[in-house]
Amino acid sequence: MLILGVETSCDETSVALTDGPRIIESVTYTQLEHGAFGGVVPELASRAHLQKIDRLTEQVLARHTARLADIDLIAVTDSPGLAGALLVGVSFSLGLSRGYGIQVAGVHHLEGHICAAMIEQTIAFPFLALVVSGGHTVMYRVDDIGRYQCLGQTVDDAAGEAFDKVGKLLGYTYPAGRTIDEAAKACESAGDLRFPIARPATSRHDFSFSGLKTAVKYHVEQRTAPLSDLDRGRICKAFQHATVEALVQGVQSAATAHGLERIVCTGGVAANGALRARLREVFGQNAYVPSPKYCTDNAAMIARAGYERATRCLLVPPRMSPSRELC
Ligand code: KG4
Ligand code: ZN
Repeated sequence: MLILGVETSCDETSVALTDGPRIIESVTYTQLEHGAFGGVVPELASRAHLQKIDRLTEQVLARHTARLADIDLIAVTDSPGLAGALLVGVSFSLGLSRGYGIQVAGVHHLEGHICAAMIEQTIAFPFLALVVSGGHTVMYRVDDIGRYQCLGQTVDDAAGEAFDKVGKLLGYTYPAGRTIDEAAKACESAGDLRFPIARPATSRHDFSFSGLKTAVKYHVEQRTAPLSDLDRGRICKAFQHATVEALVQGVQSAATAHGLERIVCTGGVAANGALRARLREVFGQNAYVPSPKYCTDNAAMIARAGYERATRCLLVPPRMSPSRELC
């Protein structure tokens, strides 16, 4: 079953070709044009998707000498995301569907992130999935594909958003998650610098990152001398520690409360070295984290979600929505 995956929900234009669960090719263009603005500019994102999507599709098809007419299914991210950006991928997919008579199915972006964890390893249901990215920080009980229960989520900023905002305070280019990860790794110790680990007083296993971000802001503002590289490294290390601990503690409490042994961590922030190491330390073999290239937005995970849905007769046409919840 040849599946074309299409992902354009934010600032990555990505197209993948799979044969059932096997990836033939997956190419991703990360839009660098947002760096100068300190965050994603929706209009620029839509234009960049439009400029790249044809060429990327030709590239993945050339890898297999496949023709569009050979494709059995197009799986496209239809929600949530930036409206104009989603529209590019969905319209492109509907156009191919009309032109070549191919079935097209909509995929929820967060279901795609969950399915990214299945690309390289087999995971038995049920499991807990923490999706932690620039737009989301949310935990689900996953009983099967299509059967999700939300166990908690951020009450304010997403963890990736906190990485990007702290990066901005330190003068790093957007997106700053990877730069902070590297600066923290290069710094031996944060010294006596500590930032708060928030636990919101809610009835679920929720997260909060806006207080942490503000604590970093006050710390930077209180400094009289300009920040040195060592200062930046220490701030990155202390901030990253507080973020990782908040995430891991949230997962621990939700997993215990819901009797879940297996833990999936996915989404852009799951590429973080300290988070990956801590999850392995706490959950051992029961921690399932995709390779970094499948953590950040990519179309291979969308194609995989299409495949999982197809095998369960759960395919639905695209229902483009910038804010549809997974459950
Ligand atoms: O999943 P993703 O590619 O896009 C969204 O769906 O949001 O995640 C992007 C987010 C950005 O906030 C970026 O700074 C963060 O993931 N990120 C990281 C790392 N690599 C990407 N955060 C921490 N450490 C990293 N190594
Ligand atoms: Zn994402």
